[in-house]
Amino acid sequence: MMTAVHPMPRRGRFAAGMLMGLSFLAGAAQASEAGSIKAGREAAQSCAACHGDKGNSNNPAFPSLAGQPAKYVASQLTAYRDGKRENAIMNGQASGLSDQQIQDIAAYYAAQERKVASPADEGSELGADLYHQGRENVAACAACHHSEALGNQPAGFPALRGLTAGYVAQSLKDYRSGARAHGQATLMAPLAAELTDDEIDALAAHIASLD
Ligand code: HEC
Ligand code: HEC
Repeated sequence: MMTAVHPMPRRGRFAAGMLMGLSFLAGAAQASEAGSIKAGREAAQSCAACHGDKGNSNNPAFPSLAGQPAKYVASQLTAYRDGKRENAIMNGQASGLSDQQIQDIAAYYAAQERKVASPADEGSELGADLYHQGRENVAACAACHHSEALGNQPAGFPALRGLTAGYVAQSLKDYRSGARAHGQATLMAPLAAELTDDEIDALAAHIASLD
C-alpha cells in the first residue's frame, strides 16, 4: 500500500466553505456542474507535491494537469477513485474525494495555464507524420488532440503537450491492452489496437519533443 496523503482536516474546512459559497450562487445544480475554481485550489493543495505548482509538473514521473479539460480531469479522478483506472498512488489520492470535490479540482486545473519546459526528446519524423496525418485505420491524433497538442476543452480531449515519452507510451499501451477502458477511452481503443510498439515509441518521442 502506498501512503495516501489525504488532506482530511482541510476537507472539513473546504466543505463548510463550499456550503457558504453555494448560498451566493443561483443554484446548487450550477455549482456542482461547473465546479468552483476557488474550492478546487484548496482541495488540490496536496496534489502540488507531485503535480507541481498550479499543475505544471517538473518531475517526469508525474503528468502535468494544468490546462487539461475539466471534463477529462473529472473523468480520470472518478475512474481512479472507483478503481477503474489502476495506479497505486492515484487510487489512494482519489479514494476520499467527493463528486463535488472532483468537479472543483477539475475546474481549478482547467483554468491554469499549461507551461512546457524545454523539450525532453529529439522527436521522430514517423511520430510527427502519424500525429498529423494518421494512416489507414489510425485517425490523425491532431483531429482530437489539436494540431499543437493542446487538447479540446469542450470535448474533454486531453492536452498531450508536456507529457513525457514514457507516460505517453504507457498510456497508449494501456488503451491497447484495455487497462484504460473507462470513460472516453472508447475513442482511443480502436486506434491504439492498431499501433505497433515502434509506432507507439515514435508517437511518444514526437509528443515529448513539443515545447
Ligand atoms: C505522490 C504523488 C502524487 C500525488 C500527491 C498526486 N498524484 Fe495524481 N498522479 C500521480 C501519478 C504517478 C500519476 C500517473 C498515474 C498513472 O499512470 O495512471 C498521476 C495521475 C493523475 C491524473 C491523470 C493525469 C492524466 O493525464 O491522465 C490526475 C487527473 C491526477 N493525477 C490528479 C491528482 C489530484 C487531483 C491529486 C490531489 C488530490 C493528485 N493527483 C495527487 C502522482 C500523484
Ligand atoms: C477520436 C478522437 C481521438 C483521436 C483521433 C486520438 N485520441 Fe487520444 N484521446 C482521446 C480521448 C477522448 C482521450 C481520453 C480517454 C480517456 O478518458 O481515458 C485520449 C487520451 C489520450 C492519451 C492519454 C492522455 C493522458 O493524459 O493520460 C494519449 C497519450 C493519447 N490520447 C494519444 C493519442 C495519439 C498518439 C493519437 C494518434 C495516434 C490519438 N490519441 C488519437 C481522443 C482521441
